[in-house]
Amino acid sequence: MNPEELIKVAFQALEHAHAPYSEYLVGAALLCADGSVFLGCNVENASYGLTNCAERTAIFSAVAAGQREFKAMAIAASGEQTPYPCGACRQVMAEFCQQNFPVHVAKTNGFETVTLGELLPNSFESRTSDA
Ligand code: THU
Repeated sequence: MNPEELIKVAFQALEHAHAPYSEYLVGAALLCADGSVFLGCNVENASYGLTNCAERTAIFSAVAAGQREFKAMAIAASGEQTPYPCGACRQVMAEFCQQNFPVHVAKTNGFETVTLGELLPNSFESRTSDA
């Protein structure tokens, strides 16, 4: 699946966003090594801090389905601004993805691709082994 197709799926995921508080809709599409794609959207809560971002929703649902190897992510959002992922989502990506992991971020015209290494250099690691 190419970046344009993955972005298209991220826009489809955005349709499921539950964002009655911010009214900012976000969708994410995560391409797994086996070719499957997991969707995510932001899921807000009356207790604002419980909100889950689209990117983490996609990663968590893929992991819950047994996926561990990811090839790329696409992110789409309502509004004019380019929806770069928040710091929490970058750190969660770093748990499973390498520095060269491509993140396709939708723009008003097309998309931009950034690597996880560009988004989160020198990410926090605490593993003591490869296990
Ligand atoms: N949001 C995401 O879904 N992803 C991000 O990387 C940043 C923010 C959501 C959370 C909240 O529902 C809304 O955008 C406004 O912050």
